[in-house]
Amino acid sequence: MRIITVGGGAREHAAVEALARAGAEIYAVMKNANPGIEAKATKVLLTAENDIDKICDFAINNEIEYAFVGPEAPLSAGVVDALQNIGVKCASPTKDAARIETSKTFMRQLVEKYNIDGNLKYNAFDCAADAIEFVKTVPYKVAVKPVGLTGGKGVKVQGDQLQTLEDTIGYINEIFDDNVGGGKVIIEEKAEGEEFTQMVFTNGEDVYAMPLVQDHKRAYEGDLGPNTGGMGSYSDANHLLPFVPEEDRLKAIEINKAIIKALAAEGCPYHGTMYGQFMLTRDGPKIIEINARFGDPEAMNVLTALTSDFSEIIKWMAGGKMKDEVKFCEKATVCKYIVPRGYGVKSESGHILSIDLERIENSGAVAYFGSVDKVDGKLVTGTSRSVGIVGIGNTISEAEQNCEKALAFVKCDAIAVRHDIGTQALIQKRIDHMRQIRGQ
Ligand code: AMP
Ligand code: GLY
Repeated sequence: MRIITVGGGAREHAAVEALARAGAEIYAVMKNANPGIEAKATKVLLTAENDIDKICDFAINNEIEYAFVGPEAPLSAGVVDALQNIGVKCASPTKDAARIETSKTFMRQLVEKYNIDGNLKYNAFDCAADAIEFVKTVPYKVAVKPVGLTGGKGVKVQGDQLQTLEDTIGYINEIFDDNVGGGKVIIEEKAEGEEFTQMVFTNGEDVYAMPLVQDHKRAYEGDLGPNTGGMGSYSDANHLLPFVPEEDRLKAIEINKAIIKALAAEGCPYHGTMYGQFMLTRDGPKIIEINARFGDPEAMNVLTALTSDFSEIIKWMAGGKMKDEVKFCEKATVCKYIVPRGYGVKSESGHILSIDLERIENSGAVAYFGSVDKVDGKLVTGTSRSVGIVGIGNTISEAEQNCEKALAFVKCDAIAVRHDIGTQALIQKRIDHMRQIRGQ
């Protein structure tokens, strides 16, 4: 298989590793020189990831058959539509199908129209005055979200980032004044519970579910600080989470399936990986967001555990036939992201990073490179998440310990890591919280 991959983060490095394991010939498009991707690629095109003309030329010149797009920005720019027009089979959604992520209003309205479970009360506003009038009288706590893309950092929730009504009004004004995420706002009912990620592979009709994963959005240990793209994540050997029973996982899978069916009915069939972010509440899973791609960091957990041939899954998602079931090994994984100091507020980039890949592997872990670059032959940190370290084990604890052992083999004088991810103490907190929510 000759395939273009778009994206230069750790999520895409994990996808490239899975493709390389399956013997694919990789043509990588990315804005930064990710050394992990470079090592596995036949050819690399360094360019903006939404530069449609250059990407199409690269595809034509290299007789590319398939494409897989990692990040949301190229999906929203229409890279998939353009590649399809020149005959490339894509295992990622078109611009129309990707609206499930790129417009939070589109997602809520679709879920409402097709009577899909898990929706939250929501109101969308085109002007600040109406939104402010609404929050002054709404009888429940709310989450305030820019309607468009914000790199996972645009949501503020009452009781978390928004302490007073003035904070809420101030944030609504900021979204409109600074045109954050397109300058429109959606105000949702706040869901109380514990979050989990259910991702699926789909060919537009059928679905294969991936193991559950829990991400950690907050920048600092103890779930404190600003929201980030995600600081790390874990998955369990039984593909559930310690606070999510099978029954709730099945409900989440059903919601993903219903959304895929609804998109097909709307005339924009969805091909690729779909990401469902859910809050497990007293009343079951509620939809927090749906993304048109793998989660980052969640992709690192599931792709490390994937034992099936990823190139076969790609072919099927792009419209081909499936030979076998999709399988994941029965191992737990814990991913901790090494990020530049200040990440989430103001990253300090450009610091030299040294990584001993062999010793990381010998610790029962894998390293996926993210926002790093090479300057004068040396690896340096970029402004976003630098390296994801995924520990593997028979239990979450074992995977967590392996991850910590491996972290010792990454050296840099300006990085941060959330060491609490995957620890028994933090997981117990989640279990206790869920018991309290469900009154058990
Ligand atoms: P998102 O970028 O949509 O994933 O939102 C970032 C974070 O905000 C989520 O991971 C949740 O913790 C929180 N959040 C978003 N929407 C809601 C909601 N309706 N209720 C409670 N928390 C939410
Ligand atoms: N882990 C959150 C995201 O990929 O959006």
